[in-house]
Amino acid sequence: AASKGMRLGSCVAWGRPGADRGSFANPAYAALLARDCGLLVPENEMKWQAIRPSATSFDFTHMDAIMAWATAKRLPVRGHNLLWHQPKWMPRWEENHDFGANPAQAAARLLVEHITTVCGRYGTRIGSYDVVNEAVNPADSTLYQTALSRALGGPEATLDLAFHTARTAAPHAELVYNDYMSWEPGNAKHRAGVLALLEGFKRRGVPVDSLGVQSHLVTQGPDARAATAALEGEWRRFLDAVTAMGYGLVITELDVRDNKLPADIGARDRAVADFTRGYLDLMLSYPSVRDILLWGLSDRYSWIEGFEPRPDTARRRPCPYDDRFVAKPMRTAIAAALASA
Ligand code: G3I
Repeated sequence: AASKGMRLGSCVAWGRPGADRGSFANPAYAALLARDCGLLVPENEMKWQAIRPSATSFDFTHMDAIMAWATAKRLPVRGHNLLWHQPKWMPRWEENHDFGANPAQAAARLLVEHITTVCGRYGTRIGSYDVVNEAVNPADSTLYQTALSRALGGPEATLDLAFHTARTAAPHAELVYNDYMSWEPGNAKHRAGVLALLEGFKRRGVPVDSLGVQSHLVTQGPDARAATAALEGEWRRFLDAVTAMGYGLVITELDVRDNKLPADIGARDRAVADFTRGYLDLMLSYPSVRDILLWGLSDRYSWIEGFEPRPDTARRRPCPYDDRFVAKPMRTAIAAALASA
C-alpha cells in the first residue's frame, strides 16, 4: 500500500494487559498491528457511549491510551466517530435528557461542545474523521431520529451542524460520512438513502469530503468470482453517482463474512479471499481510494463472531489472519490487489 501512496490499516481496541480483545495490550497482536498497519482507528473508544458517561462529562482514558500507543509506533489514527446517529448507539442518558426551555439551542450546544472537545483534544494527530456514522435507515431510506436530533430540529439540521462544527474544529481533517450501504442484492433502499443524503449535503453547502464505504461484506456463495461479478454493476452505479458529485472514497471497515459456505476451512478461506480480491479490484479502480481499513486483523477478535455466529459450530473467518495470527489467503489477496492497483 505504501509503495502505491496508499495506507492500509485496522481498527484497534483498548484492553487491560491480559484482556484479550483486539488490543495492543496483547503483545503478539500489537506486533502484528505495528508490522502490517500504516493507519489505525479505534474500534469503540471514541464513540459517545465510550467517552460521554454523562451530558456534563467526558472520559478519554481508553481513547488516550490508543493514541499514546499509536504515537509511540508513529502510526496515524482516524477518528471514529463524532456522531453515530441512531438511538441505540447514543449513550443511555441521552434518551431522557432534559434539553430545557430552549431545546434546539441546548441540543446544538451539546453537539458543538462534543465535537469541539474531541477534535480539540487530538488536534492534527487525527487527519480524518467519520463525523457522522450510519444515519440512514436501510429499511426505508429515511434518516433516523434521536433524542438529540428531535430537540435540535430534525436529523438534517443535526448532521449539517456536526459537519460544520468539525470543519471549524479540525480544519486540516478529511470529513467523512460513513455507512455500510447493504451491498447484498435486494437492499437498494439503503444506497438510495445515502445518495439522497449526499445530494442534500452538496445542495446545502455542507462540508463533507468523502464517503466512508464500510465494506462489511458477505460472500454470496462458494463461487466468489461469480458473486462479485454479479454485484459489480450495482456497486459501480452507486460509486459512480457518489464520485460524480465530487466525493472521495475511503474503505473504512473491511471484513468478509463466509456465508452460504460449507464448514470446510480451505473452501471458506478461498471464497473469502476471492471475494476480497474482486471487491478491492473494483474499489481500487476509483483513484480517490487511498486509505483501506480492516475491521480487525485477526478472526480472534472479529465483532462478527458475536453478531452473527455461523449456524454450524465453525468459527467465523472474516479477517486476513486466523485466531492464532497465522496469515490466511485473504491477506495474500489484499496484497495482490494492492500490487496490481
Ligand atoms: O466493554 C463491554 C464489557 O464491559 C461488557 O461486559 C460487554 C457486555 O455486553 O460489552 C462490552 O462492550 C461491547 C463493545 O463492543 C466492546 O466489546 C458492546 O456491548 C458492544 O455493543 C460493542 O460492539 C461494537 C459495535 O460496533 C457497537 O459499538 C463492536 O465491538 C464494533 O466492532 C462495532 O463496530 C461497528 C462500527 O463502529 C460502525 N460500523 C459497523 C461496525 C460493526 O458493527
